[in-house]
Amino acid sequence: MNTVLITGATAGIGLECATQLAPGRHLVLVGRSPGRLRAAAERVEDAGAVRVDTLVADFASLASVCELTGQVRAGYGRIDVLINNAGTVYADRTETVDGYEASFAVNHLAPYLLTESLKALMVASAPSRIVFTASTGHYRGTMDFEDLQYRYGYSIMKAYARSKLANVVYMRSLAAELEDTGVTVNALHPGTVATDIWSRAPWFTRPSWL
Ligand SMILES: NC(=O)c1ccc[n+]([C@@H]2O[C@H](COP(=O)([O-])OP(=O)(O)OC[C@H]3O[C@@H](n4cnc5c(N)ncnc54)[C@H](OP(=O)(O)O)[C@@H]3O)[C@@H](O)[C@H]2O)c1
Repeated sequence: MNTVLITGATAGIGLECATQLAPGRHLVLVGRSPGRLRAAAERVEDAGAVRVDTLVADFASLASVCELTGQVRAGYGRIDVLINNAGTVYADRTETVDGYEASFAVNHLAPYLLTESLKALMVASAPSRIVFTASTGHYRGTMDFEDLQYRYGYSIMKAYARSKLANVVYMRSLAAELEDTGVTVNALHPGTVATDIWSRAPWFTRPSWL
């Protein structure tokens, strides 16, 4: 039975993905809200998962991500598929408890830390797969190493694009590093999907059909 760990499993693309992957599989759903995780687990169980576990982690806190990686390493002998899907946008510049610009922290630093911490487990689980839900928005992203945290000139889309560019750059370097290990590493653009993410964005950045 395959074990699939998916972050951002409580809404939108992550919840739908977990539901579609459920039949015959063991799903590990990661989210920041115990209540939303319970509801997601019920839906995934109803969709035919053999086993569903839920793990709570707030990606706006690196300590919380460290706790999550500890739980995964202690709790599971193998992970067949790791789906780094959790992501968000911030209308105004926000800092996390660790002092990082929040879109960069939630969308890139957290999945980076999670994946690096689980890399040995993914290699031991080969053939296995690591997937990033990225975005074509990354083409508009830039890296300014003098001001990676957008202390100057913040905009919701610029910060989001930078975080998604970081996903793609990391994915490419990880894919090269893990070549020949039996771990495949990919990123995808899901298309423009009517999810909660747009409710946090100003109207002029939303798709016209929303
Ligand atoms: N929708 C699109 O058109 C689109 C296009 C390109 C790429 N994407 C990417 O697709 C991925 C999923 O987005 P979506 O559209 O499905 O958005 P969504 O409906 O807002 O779902 C985002 C998921 O991430 C979780 N999340 C947000 N902040 C978190 C935090 N601090 N800690 C832990 N989990 C957190 C959310 O948890 P809660 O349920 O607790 O909020 C939710 O489960 C993102 O990486 C996004 O960049 C989306």
